[in-house]
Amino acid sequence: MTSQEKSQACESARCKSDSMANMSSIKIVDLYSLLSFALLISKVQGNNERPIIGIITQEVSDEVFFQYGKTYIADSYVNYLESAGCRVVPIRLNLSEDEYLSLFHSINGVLLPGGAVGLLTSHFSRTAGIFYKLSIEAASSGIYFPIWGTCMGFQILTALTTGEDLLSNTSAENISLPLNLTEDISSSRMFRHIPPKLLHAVTREDITANFHHFGLTPEVFYANKKLSEFYRILSTNRDTKGVEFISTFEARDYPIYGVQWHPEVNRFQWNRDYAYPHSENAIWLSQYMANFFVNEARKNSNHFPSAKEEGSALIYNWTPTYTGNISGYEQVYFF
Ligand SMILES: *[C@@H]1O[C@H](CO)[C@@H](O)[C@H](O)[C@H]1NC(C)=O
Ligand SMILES: *[C@@H]1O[C@H](CO)[C@@H](O)[C@H](O)[C@H]1NC(C)=O
Ligand SMILES: *[C@@H]1O[C@H](CO)[C@@H](O)[C@H](O)[C@H]1NC(C)=O
Ligand SMILES: *[C@@H]1O[C@H](CO)[C@@H](O)[C@H](O)[C@H]1NC(C)=O
Ligand SMILES: *[C@@H]1O[C@H](CO)[C@@H](O)[C@H](O)[C@H]1NC(C)=O
Repeated sequence: MTSQEKSQACESARCKSDSMANMSSIKIVDLYSLLSFALLISKVQGNNERPIIGIITQEVSDEVFFQYGKTYIADSYVNYLESAGCRVVPIRLNLSEDEYLSLFHSINGVLLPGGAVGLLTSHFSRTAGIFYKLSIEAASSGIYFPIWGTCMGFQILTALTTGEDLLSNTSAENISLPLNLTEDISSSRMFRHIPPKLLHAVTREDITANFHHFGLTPEVFYANKKLSEFYRILSTNRDTKGVEFISTFEARDYPIYGVQWHPEVNRFQWNRDYAYPHSENAIWLSQYMANFFVNEARKNSNHFPSAKEEGSALIYNWTPTYTGNISGYEQVYFF
């Protein structure tokens, strides 16, 4: 990051990594929200040992899937979360706000997967927006409700934060890259506790899988106050033409996280037509990311009103379909 970019980033009153010397210029109201988040973070403990995470379903757009259902979740996202010690609930589209609200009060976090739906007006983005808003509202009453966006999920987060489509052409399709981490990782929640050997690997080895045509550039990020005040950049990468894009960020004051890359494919996708990293360090990184997010969900103590309602919401009620011969996913849940 250049010093100019840094000073732009730190114009945000919420820039916590900034030095104490700048604290006096922080508006009281922002200082208050900063402190209340620090309090929230210190108060919450990862003591929910039975976390349940919702994954938002999306409309089928690939014609090879039409015969199986209207909406889907790739099972790699389900396996990815389960591998870190949680259970998964599919979040169906087109439910009423009341139904989403009661689901919100029953689960401990939400994952927005990769895929291909409209950023601003799809049924997926409406549903994601409801959980995003509820998570932010809950934070003000001391409730920690984490949200994670992968690839398209990352892009949807940028649209939810700004109300705009701010993506640029950044083509990085079928390539694996090391992360170009920023200095902010040392104060980040996501990477603060990363083991040194894994940190070394993630900055040098091609272990983050990219499958996207669009991305958020640092220029657009720093020019947009809504983005630069809300998130801090944890890593960037360059697309096949050398254009820099943001590959990882986390919200400064909320448990909201986004990766433009795909941590789940390293362990759960195997089609030889795609660049899925499967080295020992690639597996380790994938597990680290899953552990991090599921740990965030342990800080939320929501639960279903009854074991019966919990049982009927869980993904175990659906059987995934084998799709390894028609897509990059081994198995897909259709709804
Ligand atoms: C790494 O990121 C910094 C900003 O954090 C940027 O200035 C630099 O150009 C990036 N390097 C590469 C190789 O992308
Ligand atoms: C959601 O509702 C719209 C109509 O409002 C419909 O066109 C669409 O197919 C529905 N999607 C699902 C997954 O039910
Ligand atoms: C982005 O790529 C699309 C094709 O995917 C092209 O139509 C469009 O002109 C490109 N935009 C810019 C700004 O390069
Ligand atoms: C994707 O990358 C993999 C590994 O590099 C390669 O084997 C495969 O042919 C690529 N697929 C396409 C469509 O380019
Ligand atoms: C893919 O595999 C399934 C299960 O073995 C089979 O029923 C289906 O016909 C196959 N599809 C193609 C396009 O090969």
